[in-house]
Amino acid sequence: MDILRSAAERGMHFLETLSERSVAPHPDALAALDQLDIPLPAEGIPAEEMLKLLDEIGSPATIGTAGGRFFGFVIGGTLPATLAANWLAGAWDQNAGLWAGSPIASQLELVSLRWLRELLGLSESWGGAFVTGATMSNFACLAAGRSALLRNIGWDVERDGLFGAPEITVVIGDEAHPTLTKSLGLLGMGRDRVQRVPVDDQGRIRADCLPRLDGPALVCLQAGNINTGGFDPIRQICGQVPEESTWIHVDAAFGFWAAASPSRRHLMDGIALADSVCTDAHKWLNVPYDSGIALVREPEALRRAMSLSAAYLPENERREPSHYTPELSRRARGVEVWAAIRTLGRAGIREMIERNCRQAARFAEGLEAAGYEILNDVVLNQVLVSFGDADRTQETIKRIQEDGTCWCGGTQWQGRTAMRISVCSWATTDDDVELSLAAMLRCAEQA
Ligand SMILES: Cc1ncc(COP(=O)(O)O)c(C=O)c1O
Repeated sequence: MDILRSAAERGMHFLETLSERSVAPHPDALAALDQLDIPLPAEGIPAEEMLKLLDEIGSPATIGTAGGRFFGFVIGGTLPATLAANWLAGAWDQNAGLWAGSPIASQLELVSLRWLRELLGLSESWGGAFVTGATMSNFACLAAGRSALLRNIGWDVERDGLFGAPEITVVIGDEAHPTLTKSLGLLGMGRDRVQRVPVDDQGRIRADCLPRLDGPALVCLQAGNINTGGFDPIRQICGQVPEESTWIHVDAAFGFWAAASPSRRHLMDGIALADSVCTDAHKWLNVPYDSGIALVREPEALRRAMSLSAAYLPENERREPSHYTPELSRRARGVEVWAAIRTLGRAGIREMIERNCRQAARFAEGLEAAGYEILNDVVLNQVLVSFGDADRTQETIKRIQEDGTCWCGGTQWQGRTAMRISVCSWATTDDDVELSLAAMLRCAEQA
């Protein structure tokens, strides 16, 4: 057991000293990684020695995503309570695929699904699954949609596959996240065999450009554009498509959590009219990687797409988690989702979301006041800033990453080179924001 105590101590030391170190690892730390690259060891080493190696070489070569000044991509941190739950669940070593494999994991999934439904204002009929992230959540939701649409016209896609199946029209926005098209490809519906709908200057689908749909159709909307944070007009589009023959899927990987904030809930208006919703817990709910959730109005469709039966697997009256997920065996990631919601409550989630949105607005205000151009309407937690032409913006990003006070990445937005700031960590304080803003302005000046 000493090894576990030692790991906990090293983990705590890592977190306690995180704010003192550069967010990006020092080049020396990266060079030291070579020390791990040895031939297959003939003999083992004591666990404590292994842990020392991992900590001394590994910890400095991490990116400070667990701290308060990482603003790259859309990567949340880890609430201490959810990390603690993760550690305990790790000790449990549960196989969450089956009730028989883990009654506690199965129960926490059920409870968490109900809480998520309540948060979003969805009816009791909605069910769902705990998967690795938004990519697999999109995949699971679209698999359910594919199943339901084809079944409605007499085709059993699980049994007979897609060869010879009736066509499904797939509609996506021009700014759909690439993991959505990847999921469509995995499901045999084609990455490019889609009708792309033009978007506005915030990346939102233009409802007036939606094609006329007169057969089975999968319409994929987005709540929270990776660059702008913009939301497709969900209610408007739901009202425009034939209800019976259309499956509406919403990729709400991080936008989902706007529902927790009374002042931003309107962005998700109409979500209860959708057929499936994808979200991540490892982003803005701040649970450890990896954790995504698929929510589906008609859980039977998800079950048809995902379930399997085998003589050796128990069947019982209860919900078997693996009937809803791509995997059979998997870790109990519902434990951390439960832990986050149980410790934060509605009020705590709201506080975290609203704080991060306010902090994003502060970045935009500070950068604009210094003369830099903000390229998006800051409706949520994402900020796009241009520091001038493409070269100067790239140079500024490079300097910010090297400076180490904070970390932001680059992006292209409608033909412009921009730096993207994503504020989605429980750990980000207002002081972190001021420190980071000062670093950004300093680097932009030098560039
Ligand atoms: C809108 C959207 N969908 C899907 C994804 C993919 O999420 P994941 O990396 O958890 O699979 C992201 C990631 O940022 C996203 O922003």
